[in-house]
Amino acid sequence: MPAAAAVEITDLVKRYAGRAAVDGISLTVARGELLALLGTNGAGKTTTIEICEGFRRADSGRVRVLGLDPVTDSDQLRPKVGVMLQDGVGGYTGARALELLQLFASYAAHPLDAADLLEEVGLADVASTPVKRLSGGQQQRLSLAMALISRPELLFLDEPTAGMDPQARRGTWDLIRRLRRDGVSIVLSTHYLDEAEELADHVVMLHAGRIVAEGSPAELTRAGSAGQVRFRAPAGLPVADLRAALPAGTQVSEPAAGRYLVAGEVTPALLAGITSWCAARDVLAEGLSVERRSLEDVFLALAVPPVPPVPPVPPLPPVPPLPRAGGR
Ligand SMILES: Nc1ncnc2c1ncn2[C@@H]1O[C@H](COP(=O)(O)OP(=O)(O)O)[C@@H](O)[C@H]1O
Ligand SMILES: [Mg+2]
Repeated sequence: MPAAAAVEITDLVKRYAGRAAVDGISLTVARGELLALLGTNGAGKTTTIEICEGFRRADSGRVRVLGLDPVTDSDQLRPKVGVMLQDGVGGYTGARALELLQLFASYAAHPLDAADLLEEVGLADVASTPVKRLSGGQQQRLSLAMALISRPELLFLDEPTAGMDPQARRGTWDLIRRLRRDGVSIVLSTHYLDEAEELADHVVMLHAGRIVAEGSPAELTRAGSAGQVRFRAPAGLPVADLRAALPAGTQVSEPAAGRYLVAGEVTPALLAGITSWCAARDVLAEGLSVERRSLEDVFLALAVPPVPPVPPVPPLPPVPPLPRAGGR
């Protein structure tokens, strides 16, 4: 029988006070793959990950981690799974960095060497510093080391580089790439597009608890007809009305007053649709340009609701003339 997938989620739903934080998501992480859950704050990343870790219970749906149930099989899973929580080292702030890592090592059957690992995450020089004195980025790196110490087969990393300076981020990316090369399966959440683009085999974009796009970074940004059109026109045009006049699946937004963005399949019909809609309103679309979409554009178009039109700013009252030097 082939080994079970690293993670398999089917129709997962989690509600808080009746509101769905995770609203019917399904995904599979193959063994040895790095999956990035990409989404802004509140998208449902932590809820999804913590259900996989067995820390929260689903309201409905099915979750299998290494073929096991994260709640009822937690004893079997614990030695195989490494977990880096979003709030890092939380309860252990009195301990010193190396002591804490050694404590975690003592729970594992075949741990890595704590001092070597501390060096690998760039914390050798703060080994005897109490955890509460470490900077936020250092605590993140310690938290990553705590997830790695037991040589897990599967790692859950919730926003692993949040709060790190650029150098620590690069170092952490290198470490994650090495783990991935060694065959560790990884689920990583992030709101950094470059992180998903750099590290992921597969990206799942979450918004409001739903999957809004997924694929490899290359698939998501593939050239071709997916693109966008920008133009300038008077602020506050009814974007929903323009969208309704364009082919299905097109998104229209006004990211800044008087700047319009139309995202979708760029075809002659789309351009004609925009210009004829403008013409019918006697609006001149200026600086109309067609662009290929980046991952960031895909993300922004999908994950961030269009900015409501900004009401026009009333003109400033005329400035009274300055009194002449010397006066009268
Ligand atoms: N324990 C909780 N109680 C109530 N609401 C929660 C709780 N945890 C998360 N939420 C809500 O669920 C949604 C998803 O949160 P979360 O999974 O933390 O998203 P992310 O990690 O992507 O920022 C948010 O609207 C958040 O406010
Ligand atoms: Mg989170």
